[in-house]
Amino acid sequence: MTFDPKAVRDFEHAGWQQAAAHYTTTFAHATRGFIDDLLDAAGVGTGMRVLDLACGPGHVASAATERRALPVGLEFSSAMIALARGDYPGILFAGGDAEALPSPRAHSTPL
Ligand SMILES: C[S@@+](CC[C@H](N)C(=O)[O-])C[C@H]1O[C@@H](n2cnc3c(N)ncnc32)[C@H](O)[C@@H]1O
Repeated sequence: MTFDPKAVRDFEHAGWQQAAAHYTTTFAHATRGFIDDLLDAAGVGTGMRVLDLACGPGHVASAATERRALPVGLEFSSAMIALARGDYPGILFAGGDAEALPSPRAHSTPL
């Protein structure tokens, strides 16, 4: 049996698309309790730019704004993005794949 990364990604994507509608009343109970510890560990505070990668419905990004940070959420599930944008209209949420981020090196000018 060979590992097929595309099949795994497609499976994950389909699962999160389906799970989005019930995420906040189910899965979020397992993650909410760690949000402050996560933001503390990353030193998130006033004026800090934060990339909330695989942001789901945006709860981490929202908590970051409560610390006066400047988050952007990135997520590959359009259903999750719709929830995040609906619940937190003041935060920028973008569609994108965490496995295909543009490399800063690709855009930087050599020194
Ligand atoms: C367990 S949820 C966590 C959501 C959020 N970070 C939180 O703590 O509430 C995992 C999220 O990662 C997203 N995700 C998984 N793989 C991804 C990828 N390659 N690119 C972008 N988002 C991805 C899923 O769509 C899902 O919303």
